[in-house]
Amino acid sequence: MKIAILPGDGIGTEIVAEAVKVLNVLDLKFESETALVGGAAYEAHGHPLPDATLKLAKQADAVLFGAVGDWKYDKLERALRPEQAILGLRKNLGLFANFRPAICYEQLVGASSLKPELVSGLDILIIRELTGDIYFGQPRGRRQSPDGLFPGAEEAFDTMRYTRPEIERIARVAFEAARKRGKHVTSVDKANVLETFQLWKDVVTEVGKDYPDVKLDHMYVDNAAMQLVRQPKFFDVVVTGNMFGDILSDEAAMLTGSIGMLPSASLNANNQGLYEPSHGSAPDIAGKGVANPLATILSAAMMLRYSLNQPQAASRIESAVEHVLAQGLRTADIWSEGTTKVGTQQMGDAVVAAITKKTITKS
Ligand code: IPM
Ligand code: MG
Repeated sequence: MKIAILPGDGIGTEIVAEAVKVLNVLDLKFESETALVGGAAYEAHGHPLPDATLKLAKQADAVLFGAVGDWKYDKLERALRPEQAILGLRKNLGLFANFRPAICYEQLVGASSLKPELVSGLDILIIRELTGDIYFGQPRGRRQSPDGLFPGAEEAFDTMRYTRPEIERIARVAFEAARKRGKHVTSVDKANVLETFQLWKDVVTEVGKDYPDVKLDHMYVDNAAMQLVRQPKFFDVVVTGNMFGDILSDEAAMLTGSIGMLPSASLNANNQGLYEPSHGSAPDIAGKGVANPLATILSAAMMLRYSLNQPQAASRIESAVEHVLAQGLRTADIWSEGTTKVGTQQMGDAVVAAITKKTITKS
């Protein structure tokens, strides 16, 4: 097993260090190599995704990724901005299937902005298509408007497009995933307005015929955004395109009150994957030792399960995380009256202790 470790920017380095610490106590045999990515790579090599980093990622069975980005790079030309690193990795590795679970941990029900009864027991899996849609569609650019309301005016345009095979494969991923859980898929589209999402809806409906045991419904994206805050427990697996998935997955994450808790996985057709926390690089708290490492630690667990075929090791991590929460340990983002505030390293140490065992469970 070979793991490429790409900590990136901001809190990325701090949280990835904790996840690596956890992986190291699991008695697994794996090789790992660390490389720069994002702003850190731009500073050192003039590009957010240097060839050496991309090569390392391609050769690895899995990539453990921290986060990229900092406001100070906002003025760079687009191709050099840190975000291009993650988009480049997705595209070059063909990571089309993005799994973003939104799980509300019982101990953290109070951290949600929704009423406890709406989110208690919440367990949604958002499956976002990750290599198509308006994110990558060509043509795109800026030009003088050739027509329309203001001919000759400066204009910018992007292209939303999906091919049938792209929709088919992500739909299959969603139905397969639903089979292993609540057997309910909600496909989110905008078929009432967009051709792209009429095709999406048609293809998902066709693929759904192969899965008669899974209930399929369709929802327009505006309604889905509303239902996510109105009755989030309606959802089991949500499958949608790249852009709608970007937006809805942030919304769903916040239902749990703790984006610092949510891992994600991005897989290609060979189960090679990139694993990263759902949150970003949080430059405002970088270097302070206060970031929550649990999303990254849980991403490492997803990596063991999906790409490295080590489900038992994955479960050990997940149980350890539940254990530290039950102990009342909280980083600042999830802290509340009556719990114990800890820093990034202390949280990592507590997870390690819970895995290597009983040392702390006895107290
Ligand atoms: C995400 C992020 C990225 C995206 C950015 C950083 C390019 O928001 O992973 O959700 O838009 O996909
Ligand atoms: Mg996003």
